[in-house]
Amino acid sequence: MADISTAIAGPLLEWFERHGRHNLPWQIDRTAYRVWLSEIMLQQTQVATVIPYYYRFLDSFPTIESLADAESDRVLQHWQGLGYYARARNLHKSAQLIRDQHNGKFPESMDAVMALPGIGRSSAAAILTFAYGHSWPILDGNVKRVLARYFQVPGWYGQGKTMKQLWSLSERVTPQYKTGQFNQAVMDLGSMVCVRTKPLCEQCPLTAGCLSFKHRTQNQYPEKNPKKDKPHKNTLMLLHRYRDQVLLYRRPPTGIWGGLWSLPEVGIADEIDMWQEKNLSLRSPHLSINENMIRHQFTHFSLDISVAVFELKTLPSKIVDSDDCVFVSPAKIPLYGLPTPVRKILTGLCLAEV
Ligand code: ADE
Repeated sequence: MADISTAIAGPLLEWFERHGRHNLPWQIDRTAYRVWLSEIMLQQTQVATVIPYYYRFLDSFPTIESLADAESDRVLQHWQGLGYYARARNLHKSAQLIRDQHNGKFPESMDAVMALPGIGRSSAAAILTFAYGHSWPILDGNVKRVLARYFQVPGWYGQGKTMKQLWSLSERVTPQYKTGQFNQAVMDLGSMVCVRTKPLCEQCPLTAGCLSFKHRTQNQYPEKNPKKDKPHKNTLMLLHRYRDQVLLYRRPPTGIWGGLWSLPEVGIADEIDMWQEKNLSLRSPHLSINENMIRHQFTHFSLDISVAVFELKTLPSKIVDSDDCVFVSPAKIPLYGLPTPVRKILTGLCLAEV
C-alpha cells in the first residue's frame, strides 16, 4: 500500500522538521545505551518527568558496564519516584546480560534485543531505529492513538484482533527510509497534537486522510476499554522508631516495589508472626495508629495505607544482623530506594527531609 505510506509519511516528516522534538537529551550524542535508557524510562512516563532522572542516572552509570557492575540497591535508588520499578530491575539484569553475552555492546538484532528482559516489540523497534538507523515499525501508546483515529480502528487495545490490526497498519505506514525520524514524528504528533482529549486537529498535517477528522469521530477512537472497577486494598504499615532512627525493611525482589526499602506491613497472619518473631511490633508499648491514611494508585488497584507508630525503648537484637532490616537515621534515608508513598509517610510523620 505505497499510497497510504506516502500519504502519511510525506506530510508527517515535513511537519516533524518544523514542529517535532529534535533536542531531547537522548537525541543529542546518541548512543545505543542512552537511547535504550530513555526508551525504558519513557514507558508509561512523560518526557518532562523523565529528563532529570535520565541525567542523574547517566551521571552515576555512564556506561552499560558501570550499570551492570552496580549494586541493585543503587540502581533502584536512582529510580525512586519514577514508579514501575520492574523497569529498573530489568534494565540492570539486561546490562549484565549485555556485559556477559554481547561483550558489553548493545545488540543490533531484533531477536537479541527482544530477548532482553523488559523490552517488548515496540521498545525494541524504537531503540533499533533511533540508535542504529534500522527500519522497524513501532506501536507505543501515541502511535496506537494516531492510527486508531486515522483509520477508525474498531475495538480496544486489550483485544488481540485490534492489536493485530494496529500492528499491521503501523507496518504499512512506516517508510523504509528515515524510519527513525518517522517513528519520532508519530510519537510527537500523538503527544503534542493527536492528544487523548480535545485533539488539536487544526494543527495536524494528516487531516486530509484521517477518517476520524472526516467523520468527527475523534472522541470515539480509540475505543475505551469497558470499565472494570479497580480493586481496592488496605494495608497497615509499621513505623518503628528507636531514638531518631526508623526501621526499614527490604521487600522481596519480585512483586510490588520489589527490592525497594519499605516499612514492614501487616495484613496476614504469617506476617504478624514474622514481626513477632523478630521481637518487634506486637510487644511494643506505644502503639498509635495514625488517623491519616495515604491512598496510592497503582495501575491495577488502589492501596490505602495506614500507619502504626512504635517507639522502641531498646534496639531489638534480632534485627541488628539482618540484611533486610536496618535502623536508619534521617540523614541516611535518601541513600535507600523507597516507594513514593513510603517516602511521604516518613517525611510527614517524623523526618524533616527524606
Ligand atoms: N515515548 C517513548 N519514546 C519516546 C521518544 N523517543 N520521544 C518522546 N516520547 C517517547
